Amino acid sequence: MWLLIQLLFVTFLSSDTIGQVLKDYDGYKLYKADLKSSDKREILKKFEGAEDFAALISSDHNDSHFLVSPRLQKEFGKILLKNKINSTIINENVGESVLQEYEQRMKAVTRSFELTKYDFGHFPRYYEIIEYMKILVQNRRYSQIIEIGTSSKNKVIYAMKIEKSSKNPVFILDAGFHAREWAAHVAALYIIKKLVHYEEKYADMMTFIIIPCVNPDGYEYSHTTDRFWRKTRSDNKRSSCKGVDLNRNFDTHWKEISNENRECAETYPGPKPFSEPESIALRDTILMYQPYAYITLHSFGSLIMYPWGFTKDLPKNWQVLHQIALKAAQSANNGTNYTVGSSARVLYIAFGGSDDWAMEKAGVPIVYTVELPEFNGKLFVMPQEEIRPMVRETYKILKHMIFNIYDEYMQ
Ligand code: ARG
Ligand code: ZN
Repeated sequence: MWLLIQLLFVTFLSSDTIGQVLKDYDGYKLYKADLKSSDKREILKKFEGAEDFAALISSDHNDSHFLVSPRLQKEFGKILLKNKINSTIINENVGESVLQEYEQRMKAVTRSFELTKYDFGHFPRYYEIIEYMKILVQNRRYSQIIEIGTSSKNKVIYAMKIEKSSKNPVFILDAGFHAREWAAHVAALYIIKKLVHYEEKYADMMTFIIIPCVNPDGYEYSHTTDRFWRKTRSDNKRSSCKGVDLNRNFDTHWKEISNENRECAETYPGPKPFSEPESIALRDTILMYQPYAYITLHSFGSLIMYPWGFTKDLPKNWQVLHQIALKAAQSANNGTNYTVGSSARVLYIAFGGSDDWAMEKAGVPIVYTVELPEFNGKLFVMPQEEIRPMVRETYKILKHMIFNIYDEYMQ
């Protein structure tokens, strides 16, 4: 009952969430299934597009994760059995985890004046991210908030720019291409906090552009309405299904050999490359600043990946990319065991990604996609006490990457 009151309270709290209620995942189970062969993949295609079924893009190409409603569990189980697909249920009631996380968050709702004390004890909403950034730049010399674009629902996409001299090499870091990957947004915000704090030291060497929330519409939607939302929230012409997967929307091998062309698919690449204002904003930022390195944060999987994602071939400088990532992975001090490799090799082949585009089309030499860790099979849903250790570890790894890149190339 208390929860319901809270739910209604937040629902009516902000004008753009009126009428929306958090999607109920009560009774949904999370399956981890071994689908090595593609015909098994075909079998499960049957469920795709169902309102109450989701194939969650998962961390390694051997195991896939499926979110299955009570209605479909019997049939899903039968199909697994009939086709001898090995599987385990890693969460018996996803709804409970979602509500637990929601409840924790509600207790931690901050008003903007309280953000001076924000201690990474909860996942910030979009407005909290922005307000906190404003607090961080107060009385700073080289840090400044810039606008790099506007989402399709008119939310500003902000970046923190830390610059002393326009001659310094530029690093671009972003997070939040995918709405539900909350670990990424909060990790980027922590990195912003640290870099702004140490701006005197760092800005002598390099310029940072950090975008903590590339997809604000999706991010807010994942808070107010559907915890597992991935895409943007733009309208699609021929379908009532909304949104585009921003990390399939870049103009590099766009939609090549894709069977995910439908608007309702989780990885819908859009009607054309750069159909979304959010991917355009990223594109134009990268083209404008010509960074030396581009790193994009996702979750989950504990992976440090470099291009290519569209082919299992490797880029010319893969050995350097590999070495830098290996060294950084060793600095993980919260027990995360990072795997290093090209994204097509350690994850799966996927087209139209921002990483491939940055390297292939924008000529950025150092490019990584980092998949942050998850906890106890909860995947995107993270116990709030895990946030602080996770963001600290991520900062440590990123710092290693950034300074190793700097030592290797820029001195
Ligand atoms: N999980 C990310 C995604 O599905 C990984 C992207 C890796 N990059 C790539 N070009 N495939 O978007
Ligand atoms: Zn992602």
